[in-house]
Amino acid sequence: MGRPKVFVTRPDVPQEGIELLKKKCDVEIYNEEKPITRDALLKGVKGKDGIFCLLTDPIDKEVLDVAGPQLKVIATMSVGFDHIDIEECKKRQIAVSNTPHVSTDSVAEFTVLLMLAVGRRLFDSAAAIRQGEWIHSWSPLWLCGQGLKDATVGIVGMGRIGQAVLKRLLPFGVGKTLYYDVFHPIQPAEEMGAIYSSFEDLLKESDYVVAMCNLSEETRGVFNKKAFSLMKKSAVFINTSRGGVVNQDDLYDALKSGEIRAAGLDVMVPEPLPKDHKLTTLPNIALLPHVASAEVSVRVLMSEMAANNILNALEGKDLVSPVY
Ligand code: DGY
Repeated sequence: MGRPKVFVTRPDVPQEGIELLKKKCDVEIYNEEKPITRDALLKGVKGKDGIFCLLTDPIDKEVLDVAGPQLKVIATMSVGFDHIDIEECKKRQIAVSNTPHVSTDSVAEFTVLLMLAVGRRLFDSAAAIRQGEWIHSWSPLWLCGQGLKDATVGIVGMGRIGQAVLKRLLPFGVGKTLYYDVFHPIQPAEEMGAIYSSFEDLLKESDYVVAMCNLSEETRGVFNKKAFSLMKKSAVFINTSRGGVVNQDDLYDALKSGEIRAAGLDVMVPEPLPKDHKLTTLPNIALLPHVASAEVSVRVLMSEMAANNILNALEGKDLVSPVY
């Protein structure tokens, strides 16, 4: 029997993971430093035993059909796996892994950074001088925001990253922390003082509403017109999870009409967001290009974890981080 064949959907992933794979597998790598085209994906996966993919690569029934029955494992170099048809993989007994844990601190840190930056109006303040808006040396109410001290923070989705965000918020002297999650009680969060709340009550009470939930059929578009209408007029909405959990037209209306104060998004639909998208016209939104885990050290760990998952699956061992 020859060496197993693995397809990697992008060349610019940290090479540490690729080197691990190359020791034991024949590795074919897509050659362009951008999300793989559908045609190239279908061509690349054919006859492979393992696929190393990214969150930009939809792995659906057609991809699995074309890959063939020998396919044993799909490892995505991301925490999110909403781009993979998990039910179809289960039916075919194809192992699927993601890369949890290694980016938790990075994403949590970035989420708090975004909360502070939006809450305290860092982006508008930094832009003011360049835009010639700093006219008076100091003004009592100019560029005033509201920070974390005494704030009620509502976290929707209290998984690993939600808990890591909560931990980082406590030293800022937040007032109350609420959480909503389909699974509850979540002991580690409650031990840090978080109180379980219904989704509606969390929206009504929170000064900061932070989306930290996976994208699934249950969470798609849950931050919609009704949700924004329940939030305080002074609320700040933050999303570092997946763009699909937000109805962006409704968010646009809520920000435009002043139904909520401001928002910070690291994820949106589509990605990349066109630079003339209507969200970019709003002064009270900070838009970041999906960079919450963007630290080289983290991306190296993600790459190695994806590779180790593939190697384990091909050797018949337990995955390091199975999705199911
Ligand atoms: C993930 O891992 O799913 C993030 O969105 C990218 O780091």
